[in-house]
Amino acid sequence: MSAATGLIRWGTECVRTGPWRTDASVAFVSPVTDAPPPSGEFVRRCLGLLGERGFQNVVTGALSPEEQRGFLDAGFTVHEKLHLLILDKAVELPPLPPRPRVRRAGWLRTARALEVDAMAFSAFWRFDRAGLREAVAATPESRFRVALGKRGSVLGYAICGAAAGRGFVQRLAVAPAAQGHGVGKKLLLDGLHWLRRVGTFQVAVNTQMGNEAALSLYRSVGFHEDPRGLCVLSTRLDGIGVTSAGFGLQPRERLRGGSP
Ligand SMILES: CC(C)(COP(=O)(O)OP(=O)(O)OC[C@H]1O[C@@H](n2cnc3c(N)ncnc32)[C@H](O)[C@@H]1OP(=O)(O)O)[C@@H](O)C(=O)NCCC(=O)NCCS
Repeated sequence: MSAATGLIRWGTECVRTGPWRTDASVAFVSPVTDAPPPSGEFVRRCLGLLGERGFQNVVTGALSPEEQRGFLDAGFTVHEKLHLLILDKAVELPPLPPRPRVRRAGWLRTARALEVDAMAFSAFWRFDRAGLREAVAATPESRFRVALGKRGSVLGYAICGAAAGRGFVQRLAVAPAAQGHGVGKKLLLDGLHWLRRVGTFQVAVNTQMGNEAALSLYRSVGFHEDPRGLCVLSTRLDGIGVTSAGFGLQPRERLRGGSP
C-alpha cells in the first residue's frame, strides 16, 4: 500500500486521497474545489482503487450537502456532523488584543504545536506532522502562528488559509492548561485580520457538534452559523465488488483543506 497523497481522476471528476493522519489502514477522500461534486459511480470506482491499495476503511473530508450525495449513493454513512460557521466581510472585527505574543511557527515550534494539538483534540481529529503540513499547504496562501507563554512555551497555534478570495480557519488549538485566558481569541483574531489584509470576502470554519467553547469563540468575533452544516462520512471496504479500471493517481496538488 502506498502512503502517497494524490488525486484520483475520472473524466472531469477528481478527488484528493491519501492515508488518514495517524491510521494508515484508513484512507481519506476529499472533493477538490475545481471539479464537480463526485458522482456515486465515481466514488464506487475510487473505493475499488483504495481497496486494491490495501485500505480497510475510508473517511471523507468535511462535505457540504451537494458533495455528500455521491458518497451516500455509494454506501457511505454519516461519521460525524459538523457546524459550519461563516464570517462575512461586512462584519467589523474586534481589535487585536496585545497578549499573548503571537509569532511565526518555526521548525522547533512546529513540534511544540503538535504536542498542543495532541492535548487539545481527540485521537480521531489529532494531527501528525503530515496532517499539519497538509493544512498549511491546502491553500495557496497560509498563515501558521503560535501563541507564546513564559520562556517561549507554546500555548496554542492557528493555521489560516486563503484561496480565491475565500478564507479558512484550518486549525485552532490551545493547550488545556492555557484555555480560558484569551489565547484562542488572540490567535483567531490574528488570523482573521491577516485574512482581511490578503483580500478575502468571507471566512469559513467548521467545528464538532457540542464544541461550545469553539462555537462561543467564533460567535464572539462575528461568525454566524450556516444551518446546512457539513458532514464527515465513512465506509468500510470489505466486500466491495468494484474495480479501479481506468484510473490514474496523479501527483499531489495544492488544494483547499479544512478540518476542525
Ligand atoms: C476552542 C479553543 C481554541 C478556545 O481557546 P481559549 O483560549 O480557551 O479561548 P479564549 O480564552 O480566548 O476565549 C475566547 C472566547 O471563547 C469563548 N469560550 C472559551 N472557552 C469557553 C468555554 N469553555 N465555554 C464557553 N465559551 C467559551 C468565550 O466566548 C470567550 O470569550 P470571553 O473571554 O469574552 O468569555 C480551545 O478551547 C481549544 O483549543 N479547544 C480544543 C480544540 C478545539 O476545539 N479547537 C477548535 C476547533 S474548530
